[in-house]
Formats: sequence, C-alpha cells, structure tokens
Amino acid sequence: KNLDLVIRGGEVITASDHARADVGVRDGKIVAVGIGLPKGKREIDARGLIVMPGGIDSHVHLAQPSAEGTVMADGFESGTRSAIAGGNTTVIPFALQSRGMSLRDAVADYHRKADGQAYCDYGFHIILTDPTPEALGQELPALVSRGYTSIKVFMTYDDMVLNDRELLEVFDAAGDCGALVMVHCEGYDAIRFMTEKLEKAGKISPYYHAVSRPEAVEREAAHRAISHAEITGVPIMIVHVSGREAMEQIRWARNRGLRIMGETCPQYVSLSADDLKGLNMDDTGSKYVCSPPPRDPESWAAIWSGIQTGVFQTFSSDHCPFYFEGKLGKKSAAARSSFRWVPNGIPGVAVRMPLLWSEGVMKGRISPNEFVALTSTNHARIYGLAQKGSIAPGFDADLTLWDPKRKITITQSLMEHGADYTPWEGVEVTGWPAMTILRGEIMMRDGEVLGNPTMGNFLPREISNEALRARESGDPF
Ligand code: URP
Ligand code: ZN
Ligand code: ZN
Ligand code: ZN
Repeated sequence: KNLDLVIRGGEVITASDHARADVGVRDGKIVAVGIGLPKGKREIDARGLIVMPGGIDSHVHLAQPSAEGTVMADGFESGTRSAIAGGNTTVIPFALQSRGMSLRDAVADYHRKADGQAYCDYGFHIILTDPTPEALGQELPALVSRGYTSIKVFMTYDDMVLNDRELLEVFDAAGDCGALVMVHCEGYDAIRFMTEKLEKAGKISPYYHAVSRPEAVEREAAHRAISHAEITGVPIMIVHVSGREAMEQIRWARNRGLRIMGETCPQYVSLSADDLKGLNMDDTGSKYVCSPPPRDPESWAAIWSGIQTGVFQTFSSDHCPFYFEGKLGKKSAAARSSFRWVPNGIPGVAVRMPLLWSEGVMKGRISPNEFVALTSTNHARIYGLAQKGSIAPGFDADLTLWDPKRKITITQSLMEHGADYTPWEGVEVTGWPAMTILRGEIMMRDGEVLGNPTMGNFLPREISNEALRARESGDPF
C-alpha cells in the first residue's frame, strides 16, 4: 500500500534516539521510519530540519472564566491555533468545576466550548473545587473511566482553595480510581495575610503581587502537598514550580522514594519579579502577573538544575491569557486599584518550545533528546496518551519540523493568540518550528496556520503510568 506522506531526509529525534531517516505516514499514523522509503502521495523535504514528536502542552487554560468574571483572551479556536503556531499538536486544558456544579456538567461545559473549535488534539484535566462525596465517590471514577484521567486542585484562591482535610480526601479518592493529581502549591492564608498587609501600606502596584507570594509560600505548600501524598500513598504532580525552594522539596521527596513529579514553565527561566515593576499604575508590570510569580536569575539557575537532574519531567506553558488594554483589558485596569485584582496568568503556548530550545539546547543545558522528553514524550507518558509523543510505527503522525538555527525575534503578530500582547515581546530566540503536522495533515508551514478548527480531536486518556505504578504497590486505604 502506498504511503500518504513521506517526510524525507530530516534528522529524526525522539526522547531516546536520533538518526537521519524518512518518516512514512498512512491514515494519520506513522507506519515506517527508515532510510529510502518509497515515494508517498505527498512528499516533504525535511533536509536541514529536525523531525520531532509534535509538542504536547499539558498545562493550558482556554475559555476558563476566573474569579472576577474576567474573560479569558483565548477560547479553543485561538488558543489551539496559537498552540499549532508554536509547534504543538496536543494540548490538555482544564474543565473547571465551579463550586456547586457537578463534575459531569463541568466536563460537558468545556466540551461545548471545544467541539469543532480546535486546531489541535486535546484532552481535559478536571479542576476540582467542590469535593462532595458524590463528586469523589461516583463522578470522578466514572469520568476517569471515560478518559478524564487527571485532576487539578488548588491550595489558594478564594473560589478554588481546598483545605488540608479536603486535599487528603481528594488525594485518596484519586488514588482509588487512578486519577493523577496536579497540585497548585501556594499557601492561601499566607497570601491573604501578605496581601492585606501590603494593601494597608499602600503597596498596590503589580510588583507587590510577587512580594505577596514569596518562595516560602510555595515551598510550604509544596511540602504540605508532598506530606498529604505520602500519607495517602498517591502520586502527585506539582505544577508550575517557580524556583529553588519548591524544587528542592520535590528533589527531597523523590530522593525518599515518593512518587512526586514536577512541572516548570518558560516564565521561571526567563522572566523575573523585576518585570512586574512599572513606573506608574498604567505601566506594563501587570503583563507579567502570574502565579507563582516569576522570580530572579538565581531562581532560573535552580530551575535549570532541576531540569537537568530529573526533578522536573514536564515543561509546560501554563498558557493563561488575559487582555492588557481596551475594554476587556483587566490586566491594566485592575492594576490601578490593587495587584490583588489583576488576573493571574500569561500567554505562552506559542513560545514554550522556542524558549526551551533557545535557552536549553542552544546553550548546552539539555540535549535535543531531553528537549523532546520535556516538551512531548513525558507529557504523553504521564497523562496517559499512549498514541502520542514518539516517532515510531503505530504512533499518531504528530510531527514538528524544527528549524534549529532559525533566529526569530518574538513579537505579538507571530503568536496567533487572542491576547493583545506577549510577555516575551522583543526577545530573540534561536530555533523555531517550520512545520506542524497533526495526524499527517500539515497544520502550519513557515508561520502560516493551515487547516481549520474542526481538525482537532478530543482525546480520552488512559490511566497515567504513574498512577498505575502507585496502585501496584498498594493503597493504604
Ligand atoms: O497565574 C496563573 N498561572 N494562572 C493560571 C492558573 C493556574 O494557577 O495555573
Ligand atoms: Zn495553578
Ligand atoms: Zn495553570
Ligand atoms: Zn484509597
């Protein structure tokens, strides 16, 4: 049988191998990898390019309302378009359970938002804010069996925070049904205390967002989450780790044999709290407000050490876009009254891979294989996407053709996202995706997004390998 597509003469790089090879595709799947494959119906000349598994970004927020009724700058259409522009073929956004809502309704709600609106494939994590016996005992196991195999819980934010008892209940229930738990580790009471103190002292500009949640706040919460994970015997993923303190907690836990995983993001190796400093309240500091806040160059070095020593398995964007200017520009408007009201989050799905290539591979900090593991393979393994994240017969033909030497100055017009700015405006990177291929279809070529937003499929996911391993070793309850 003929091949539908042959990607010829590129340097094929996976998490474990690299070789010059052709990649043959049929019916959206990789069917052959080797030298001198027969001619396909379509041919792509990949000489001079790297052929790597399509990026999988397991931490993005799309169409998710936040506390103050703020609209997110990306729905599924623009958010997945931006993902494709940045070399990604799969994203895993969140389905938010608002308090009082069932998990089933939350999931149905996000399916409505995503259906027919996605340029790339997607699954859903469930944000669990209301851990009722019904949600934990009935709904969660049913949803896990239907492919929603991970949840996120928060240790801060008024409308999402869980207390310790609730965290323990959720961890235990997740362990019982095999859901992998992602934890937002920042301590609620400490942040509230700091915020009120700062506001009383008139310290309300965006910079004080970073002051209100220092590393100790993140480290304490990380340690508490790790303790809860140990007590209940479940694996957890500590997401968006910002610096040395929380990183060292994960390292400590892993050295003790606990199944604690870590995620970090581009902002924690490239932005700093100083970016939040503006000259006045109208200034640009709020563009960089996210949680945990970006730290400083010493923290970047600590994060690199965590990346290099396996403390972190995934490098995700935590894409969470809000408008800066105009009628919807809550970022700048809210900054005037207090940092407390600036929506937390920044857009980054399009620059995650270029920033890691540029700062990581080009600067000799990580190998190209590690790049693939951190941007694709590990996301697939940890979040139960067996058909994604590698280049071998049987895998989905999700491929990024990477131009390793291409120099690009990051700018808003390249982002293809809904937000009206990028925090990395003017930053120069080396390495950029030349083509993004989703299940054998060219979705982006030389910066032009092709295809259409009906081409992304929902991906029911399998139980995480990490959760399976934990269950094999026995559930204490
Ligand atoms: O500031 C951030 N990261 N907002 C997104 C929500 C979250 O906590 O991941
Ligand atoms: Zn979070
Ligand atoms: Zn997030
Ligand atoms: Zn149990």
